[in-house]
Amino acid sequence: MAENKIVLSGMRPTGKLHLGNFHGALKNWVSLQGKYDCYFFVADLHSLTTAYQHTENLAQNSEDMLIDWLTAGLDPQKCTIFIQSDVPQISELNTLLGMITPLGWLLRNPTYKEQIQELLKQKYAGQLDEKSLGEKIASIAGDDEISCFGFLGYPVLMATDILIQQAAYVPVGKDQTAHLEIARDLTRRFAEIYGEQVFTEPQPLYTTVARVPGIDGRKMSKSYNNAISLGEDLDSVRKKVMSMFTDPNKKGAHDPANPEGCVAYAFHKIYNPNVSKRCEECKAGALGCVACKKELFALMEPELVAFSERRKLFEGDKAQLAQIVKDGKARACQNAEQTLQRVKRVMRMIK
Ligand code: TRP
Repeated sequence: MAENKIVLSGMRPTGKLHLGNFHGALKNWVSLQGKYDCYFFVADLHSLTTAYQHTENLAQNSEDMLIDWLTAGLDPQKCTIFIQSDVPQISELNTLLGMITPLGWLLRNPTYKEQIQELLKQKYAGQLDEKSLGEKIASIAGDDEISCFGFLGYPVLMATDILIQQAAYVPVGKDQTAHLEIARDLTRRFAEIYGEQVFTEPQPLYTTVARVPGIDGRKMSKSYNNAISLGEDLDSVRKKVMSMFTDPNKKGAHDPANPEGCVAYAFHKIYNPNVSKRCEECKAGALGCVACKKELFALMEPELVAFSERRKLFEGDKAQLAQIVKDGKARACQNAEQTLQRVKRVMRMIK
């Protein structure tokens, strides 16, 4: 191992991964294993903070996500892979950190506010006008379905994930900055209150990863219905590629166009080794969008086929998967237990 520093990251189990997760995060994780002491986990407790009423597929989603990780190249010999709820120490430290987290930090957290807005919009879609929705948002604390204790505590749980394993680096997207800041603040607050620095102060690890837009040009997300899944059947992928958003000013096949903002071009950046040539061709109006998209699909196809083939190997070997989860749990629990014991001593809960 090049460095002993601990790297940790997690994803909420939303089922099979899409290309945004794959190129945006997972490939980066794969390249970090072996360089650091890496911990990667399925954040099933975090998914309960919002989807607590829809748990029918929770365990299956966790398994699907693990299989995708392994297929993408996460190697249990090189990193620790585990399921968050398999580590009871996390729930215990979460309780303790909850005792010292000021409510204001959580209420002011911009992600909390944004998520509430998004969830309320979904819940009242078509039922409330703009003004009533605004009033609802202003009085979120009154919405029993959405404003739960666990949801407000999302950043405390995330801080717990990080601090309990003593992670120095946390590879995350920019959207997680506010959460990570709370984790950092908690390390200091704990030290101030109890007089001892028990936790490593974590740093975000922003890497320049590919930005993968959804087929409509917004961020790729299952909930926006604009995602291409890993392992999606090829006909469906072809249709999605052919319907990708392109420069709306390009009317005829041989009009010059602007590749920036074109979704097909963003994908060419990932899949096409001659992307700069494509950029010139597009600007010169040398080819139409249909031809460009057909070529893109041909470039994507081998990777998608290879992924599906490889995925079958892991899917078909439940015993191997169970062993990986068991080993990951053991390692994650052992490391977490060390931190928890120190915390309890410093908090004078044990002598
Ligand atoms: N909040 C993260 C996300 O939505 C997932 C997550 C939970 C996480 N716990 C974590 C990421 C700890 C990094 C470290 O993407």
